Amino acid sequence: MKPNIRKIEFFDRENEKREILNILRTEPQLLNFIYGPINSGKTTLITDMIENLPDDYVVFYVNLRRKSIIRYEDFIRVLFAIEEGGFLKKIKNIFTKVLKHITSTGEKTLYKSHGIPVDKSLLETFFKEKSNEDVFNYLVEYFKNIAKHKTPVLVIDELQMIGGLEINGKLIYKLFNFFIGLTKELHICHVFALSSDSLFIERVYNEAILKDRCRYLLINNFDEETTLKFLGKYNINKEEQKLIYKNIGGKPAHLIRIIDAKKRGKEIMNEVKEMLESRKKETNDTLRKLKEFGSEIKYNNVSYNVDYTKVISTLKMFGEKDEISANDISEVIKMYLVKDNILFAECANETIKPQSKLDLLAIREILKEMK
Ligand SMILES: Nc1ncnc2c1ncn2[C@@H]1O[C@H](COP(=O)(O)OP(=O)(O)O)[C@@H](O)[C@H]1O
Ligand SMILES: [Mg+2]
Repeated sequence: MKPNIRKIEFFDRENEKREILNILRTEPQLLNFIYGPINSGKTTLITDMIENLPDDYVVFYVNLRRKSIIRYEDFIRVLFAIEEGGFLKKIKNIFTKVLKHITSTGEKTLYKSHGIPVDKSLLETFFKEKSNEDVFNYLVEYFKNIAKHKTPVLVIDELQMIGGLEINGKLIYKLFNFFIGLTKELHICHVFALSSDSLFIERVYNEAILKDRCRYLLINNFDEETTLKFLGKYNINKEEQKLIYKNIGGKPAHLIRIIDAKKRGKEIMNEVKEMLESRKKETNDTLRKLKEFGSEIKYNNVSYNVDYTKVISTLKMFGEKDEISANDISEVIKMYLVKDNILFAECANETIKPQSKLDLLAIREILKEMK
């Protein structure tokens, strides 16, 4: 008998995929921001798409989370991948037009790389030259060359990791300028920037240089219909499906935890209860720390105190409502609760809501128990 270890397969996202494919089919015009709640499936979606792209695309996937980025050097280190042979050689082959030959012999030429390949000596010059101008100039030339034969696609995951690069504040500006150069101005490379930090995206959204030069794609938690279908694939009956959606919502990472519990023969509702308890504990922990130690939010280099009572009264708004308008919440409180992954700010239509249904219910229970 086959052991019951069926892997969780990539599910749905048909609309989102179609939208991204449509973007990829046209000339690069805008910088694409892919955002959505934490663990909603942004990385999974883009990774799945990369794997299935036709040969005419050369994809560079850079995940900034892999390293801590505090200094300019750290940023350069994650952006590039030192390659002596392998990928670098293949890219050089494209440059020297061996490409035609490769394609005609039918060899697969889909390139994927973690970072932009450079050789060691070049990377070292980037470190020596204190100016970051050279790096971006190099990259523009690099993508221009690839674009002669193929369509380059640059994916930067966990973009918010560079948000803290205050020391080199201009770097973010230069990076966006570089992205805009590749898309809106030169039309040579598709750029996708991914982030769960909706406030970082919002900050970026307000950057003057980006006005009318970017597009936002929301990858949300699964909606009800998708959630039920997804659960249905893993031996979860209709009644359980509805209960699960009602109690935790449609965050893929949460659903996978339930599917896993079911596979291990656990009672679904017990798992749901455990998840709620643990989310309550985490949220309570955050609130307790705030009450005792206080906290502050920095904005334009000015620090603002986070008022505990105000945080609680903001959370109370979720007593009856599932979401609130950005106008109903103080900026400081919003930044605090979003930063701590309790709330998610949907910049496009200015709504603020908990990170998931599970979070919403955890907030409601905490407030009830406070009385
Ligand atoms: N469409 C999907 N089908 C199946 N599993 C998914 C899907 N999207 C996300 N997941 C699962 O949910 C988890 C979180 O997804 P991830 O892509 O890391 O989220 P994000 O990048 O938005 O934080 C992963 O373990 C992934 O396997
Ligand atoms: Mg991710």
